[in-house]
Amino acid sequence: MKLSPFLTLICLAACRPAAADDSPVDFMRQVKPVLADRCVECHNSENLLGDLNLQSRTLAMQKRKEGPVIVPKAPEKSPLYLVLTLPPANDKAMPATAHRLPKTDVENFRRWIKEGAHWPEGRDGAIIPRKAKTKEP
Ligand code: HEC
Repeated sequence: MKLSPFLTLICLAACRPAAADDSPVDFMRQVKPVLADRCVECHNSENLLGDLNLQSRTLAMQKRKEGPVIVPKAPEKSPLYLVLTLPPANDKAMPATAHRLPKTDVENFRRWIKEGAHWPEGRDGAIIPRKAKTKEP
């Protein structure tokens, strides 16, 4: 049987994204590169802006007086996600400079936290800022 082009189009629009949305967010592929490219230049051991180091899970989870930035399973309580959703004029909107994150990245952060914010310890989870000369965490 020949599938009509129309059906194929519907399937491209409706079937594939649905399938993609069901798979959990992959920290290594979908979250870590964004942290490395867009966040860690300001949130590292030498540039501790906002009292926040995002170079590893342990450092990101360190006690801050403002409270934790990641509350696993609760993106709506996690500043790490909330700051990405603020209007650009807000002082707390992140990234603090340069262009905003694409919507798909913001959504990946939300789902990643919702799914438990899995972030491996050790080398896999360690993020070295690309733009700044900073030591490993
Ligand atoms: C150009 C530097 C810069 C970049 C890039 C940057 N931040 Fe920040 N970040 C800051 C500064 C400065 C603060 C402190 C803001 C304040 O307290 O008003 C901050 C604070 C924060 C806070 C704490 C907010 C709170 O409520 O205490 C979070 C969470 C955060 N940033 C996440 C991120 C994430 C996620 C990214 C990447 C998408 C990012 N930042 C990129 C400079 C930056």
